[in-house]
Amino acid sequence: MKIGIIGAGNIGATLARKLAASGHEVKLANSKGPDSIRDLARDVGATAVSKEDAVRSVEAIILSIPFANYPDLAGLFKDVPTDVVVIDTSNYYPFRDGAIAEVDGGRPESTWVSEQIGRPVVKAWNAVLAETLAERGQPNGTSGRIAIPVAGDDPKAKATAMELVEATGFDAHDSGSLGDSWRQQPGTPAYCTELTRSELRSALQSADQSRAAGNREALIREFAAAGGKLTHDEIVARNRAVTA
Ligand SMILES: NC(=O)c1ccc[n+]([C@@H]2O[C@H](COP(=O)([O-])OP(=O)(O)OC[C@H]3O[C@@H](n4cnc5c(N)ncnc54)[C@H](OP(=O)(O)O)[C@@H]3O)[C@@H](O)[C@H]2O)c1
Repeated sequence: MKIGIIGAGNIGATLARKLAASGHEVKLANSKGPDSIRDLARDVGATAVSKEDAVRSVEAIILSIPFANYPDLAGLFKDVPTDVVVIDTSNYYPFRDGAIAEVDGGRPESTWVSEQIGRPVVKAWNAVLAETLAERGQPNGTSGRIAIPVAGDDPKAKATAMELVEATGFDAHDSGSLGDSWRQQPGTPAYCTELTRSELRSALQSADQSRAAGNREALIREFAAAGGKLTHDEIVARNRAVTA
């Protein structure tokens, strides 16, 4: 598949590496321009391009930029055919992104993203830590394989996103509509807790929207206080404990 990725950081570059390794043709873009990611793109098996080029002549587009920057992408999709699948990996963290009233008021993050860019999106890969994505993928059929929730309203677009999630080494789990995608946002039991498919199904069902923002903030405070001293497994364990 021809894929454009906007955002060449922890998540975008890792997705580029994994999708290129599984045979996809990947273009990678950032905000500073292709010259600034030429070496990175070569290293991960992708081609460095501008944002405009990343959305041209592709079958899927992955957006992986800081949440507050999505309004920058408004207008980018005006000539992109409607059958091109747009996948959003984002999460909202007010300490980093500033307060966004609609999302604080309960609008699912990816619904807000979709409104900013003027396109339907599928939400995927948001609920795995960058290290999980980079290091913990496994071949299909491996016992204990970690599952990733994939939410969206268009069945065909969601099927494409799920195929790509599987290609990155994780079970793709259909987590419902975009309206339901608050169930996989920060502060919920499904978020960055490294669950198998059956565990993920239960976690999504048990999510409590009224607790999510409080859990998210409690975890951020805890991680900040630890000053980078927690191991990856300790972070996952704290995510599980606080959101249970
Ligand atoms: N890190 C994680 O563990 C994790 C896990 C799951 C989901 N996520 C979510 O995935 C998204 C990306 O996270 P990340 O950790 O990969 O971020 P990151 O490492 O900070 O990388 C962000 C990338 O986005 C690019 N960018 C920023 N603004 C842009 C714009 N207006 N147009 C085009 N490119 C732009 C940056 O390019 P420049 O450097 O050129 O500005 C950079 O390449 C976030 O929404 C995050 O919440 C993160």
